[in-house]
Amino acid sequence: MQPLRIGLCGLGTVAQGVLAVLKKNQQSIDARAGREIRVARVASRTARPELDLLGAQFSTELNDVIEASDVDVVVEMIGGEDAALKLVRRSLELGKPVVTANKAIIAAHGNELLALASSRQTTIGFEATVAGGIPIIASLMRALAGNEIQWLAGIINGTSNYILTAMAESGQAFDTALAEAQRLGYAEADPTLDVEGIDAAHKLTIMAALAFGIGFRFADVYTEGINAVSVEDIEYARQLGYQVKHLGIGRISDAGVELRVHPTLVPQQQLLASVNGVMNAILVNGNAAGDTLYYGAGAGALPTASAVIADLIDIARGLSLPPIATSEGETRILSIEDVECGYFLKIPSLDKPGVFAKVATILSDQKISIEAAIQKEQAIHAESQHAWVPIIILTQRVREGVMNQALEAVQQLPEVVGEITRLRVEQFVDA
Ligand code: HSE
Repeated sequence: MQPLRIGLCGLGTVAQGVLAVLKKNQQSIDARAGREIRVARVASRTARPELDLLGAQFSTELNDVIEASDVDVVVEMIGGEDAALKLVRRSLELGKPVVTANKAIIAAHGNELLALASSRQTTIGFEATVAGGIPIIASLMRALAGNEIQWLAGIINGTSNYILTAMAESGQAFDTALAEAQRLGYAEADPTLDVEGIDAAHKLTIMAALAFGIGFRFADVYTEGINAVSVEDIEYARQLGYQVKHLGIGRISDAGVELRVHPTLVPQQQLLASVNGVMNAILVNGNAAGDTLYYGAGAGALPTASAVIADLIDIARGLSLPPIATSEGETRILSIEDVECGYFLKIPSLDKPGVFAKVATILSDQKISIEAAIQKEQAIHAESQHAWVPIIILTQRVREGVMNQALEAVQQLPEVVGEITRLRVEQFVDA
């Protein structure tokens, strides 16, 4: 068999990881691929003479790699959006398979890129776009292909999970935990994509496209980050038997598909609640396999390289993508108002008789059932103008639109002296 000749575009952390793993595991990789996987060309804006390019020819021009007749497959590792998108499009137009770790372009342009790959009878590998070293794409595309996937829920942003874990374990405030994550290299200098949930929304979009056959619908994902979660919320959640985790959740029902990313209370006994630090995990519910859980490193040079090389081996073996819908079809994406879940409410209230009863009456008028409540004496914040207490309530499942109406009424009570905090709760026991 002829070798599979790779054109590597970019020499950042993940690209260096790809070179390192190809070098370290060359023999077994080639054996599994059934032929040699050889890095033929590398392009990067800056030369990196200190790196071992495994004998590849170097250029500072991306076109020297994409257009080269001795490159069979293009590995896009330049990051960013516009230039990467152009590079991927051009490679596919030339009929060359592409492997990428770029979740932003797959989430936002997956429909176009997969359709383009198919029209040119080529393929695009994107295992590395979701959760680094966890083989979730292959699992959804192949290993779980006999199932109807009913729902999936994942801790798919390591930075957010690191920050929430630090807040829960050592009581650090959000800003302190974020600064520590930046110091350790887990969070970017500009942490917006991570802490505002956009990175997780990219990954959820990709998983949902495979799980539910609804195309890549990034614009339809309801997205909240972790920046409004407080240490106090996490502590109250813990007292009620829950951990606060930032989840990407997809669920299909007769009503439509839910696509949402937000902080979520997860029961402490649920395995996802024990996924801490920068680790990622995805729980998938299929109608044959039941619940399966995938855990591992969601980022980093070697875990991400592991995913990239798996795609290269598939391409070397002539495996292309299974059929994946690239249009939206008929399926409705539910608005967040139509989604049903439990709620954790923190209602800052004057410490007067009858306030809890008023809140309970409003909830009951909307047929919202209270599951648990806390109101502790020591929680009184006596330093404020009036003595007030946070009333903490956990509710049973209710449609968000109904909860919004109830909360509007509660917020207007004269005894409610500050903004109500609302976090969603998932039990993962209903399917
Ligand atoms: N920044 C991401 C995270 C890793 O914190 O999980 C790359 O998607």
